Amino acid sequence: MNDPLLNISYGLFVITANKDGRDNGCIADAFQQVTSLPEQVSLCLNKSDFTCDLIVSTGKFTVSIISENADFELFRTFGFQSGRNIDKFANFGAVRRLPNDTLAIIAGTNSYLTVNVNQTIDLGTHLLFIGKVDEKEVLNDEPSMTYAYYRKHMRKSLADNTDGSHI
Ligand SMILES: Cc1cc2nc3c(=O)[nH]c(=O)nc-3n(C[C@H](O)[C@H](O)[C@H](O)COP(=O)(O)O)c2cc1C
Repeated sequence: MNDPLLNISYGLFVITANKDGRDNGCIADAFQQVTSLPEQVSLCLNKSDFTCDLIVSTGKFTVSIISENADFELFRTFGFQSGRNIDKFANFGAVRRLPNDTLAIIAGTNSYLTVNVNQTIDLGTHLLFIGKVDEKEVLNDEPSMTYAYYRKHMRKSLADNTDGSHI
């Protein structure tokens, strides 16, 4: 490993949004808390993600924090196919509808928080959303999954998911 960027530690998250009754979600690592007073967070999504479009339209999203309890199916469902083509929630029932109209993921996760976007920065290929935390809840005390844990324990399931961009 010669690239210091590969030594940066990340968590893993399901980012969900809803526009006019249409739910969607994707996996992201590029999410973090950036200030405490007020509690603000940042999220960076590729403009090609359908979830990114929904957040641009509605200005809100929910972050479900993935735990070490998650199985690869969660990544397969939300990280390796686009909601532009399918309804990711058609066969996925482990959800809770929140007051902001989005769905929190309640299996393979340990917490969720909802965010209202107050700034969007165009980074070329990606949009960086900055927003204020609204509702938040801890679901259980399972450890949060890191990207390093994912690479070690989940990547073996990736034989048929070799798009290469986030593996
Ligand atoms: C482990 C992992 C981490 C990912 N991290 C990000 C990320 O930080 N930002 C991003 O835009 N996409 C990320 N992705 C890719 C999206 O989840 C993926 O492109 C998804 O299919 C987009 O779905 P959508 O078009 O329904 O929004 C990640 C995928 C995986 C498997």
